[in-house]
Amino acid sequence: MTENIYHMPLETDVSPDPEIMARIRNEWSRLDQRGIIPYQGDRLVADWLGRFDLGIAYSEAFYTPPGMTLGIHTDGRDQSGPYSNRCKINWIYGAPGSRMVWYEPTSSDYMGKDHVTKAGTVSRVFEMEMISKVFEIEPRSPSLLNVGRPHTVVNDTPHQRWCFSYTIRDLRSGHILQWPEAIIRLSPLFPHAG
Ligand SMILES: [Fe+2]
Repeated sequence: MTENIYHMPLETDVSPDPEIMARIRNEWSRLDQRGIIPYQGDRLVADWLGRFDLGIAYSEAFYTPPGMTLGIHTDGRDQSGPYSNRCKINWIYGAPGSRMVWYEPTSSDYMGKDHVTKAGTVSRVFEMEMISKVFEIEPRSPSLLNVGRPHTVVNDTPHQRWCFSYTIRDLRSGHILQWPEAIIRLSPLFPHAG
C-alpha cells in the first residue's frame, strides 16, 4: 500500500465565493472542451486561509466535460525540478464518481517535458510508459491535494465536472505550500481532528 501523500479531506463549511463561481460557470460556453479559467479576488477563501497563516497563490477554475480523461501532468513547475509536493485545496462540483489518479516515475531520471497550458501557465507532462499508478480516489470536496506529483483527472461520467482550485502560499515563508508542511498546518481540519 502506497503511503497517502496525495489527498486529505478537509472539514469546513467554507466554500468559494458563490458570485465568482456563478460568473465563471455562466461565461464558460464551450461545454465540450476542457477549460482552465484563472480568477482572483475570492475574499471568503482568502480570509479562511489567513486563519492558518496561509494565502492564495493562484486560483483557477477547471472544467472537465463528460467522458474526458486528462493527460498526466504536474501543476506548475518549481525551480527545484519537475516533481514537487505543492498543494492545492479544491472544491469539486458535479460528476460524482470522477476520480484523480496519481503516478510516480519508474526511472529516477525521467523528467517529463514542459507544457504550456491554454491559460499560459507552464506544467510538466508525462508519458504513460514511463510512470506507474500509485494512488486513485474520488476526491472529497473540499480536500487538500498534492498536485506536484504526476496526476490526472478521470471524468468517465455523463456529467460536467467543475473544480475551483486554490494553490496555497505559506505566508510565513512566502513559498508555495508543500505537502509535509500542509499536513501540519491544516491538521485541525482533518476528519476526527477533534
Ligand atoms: Fe492538475
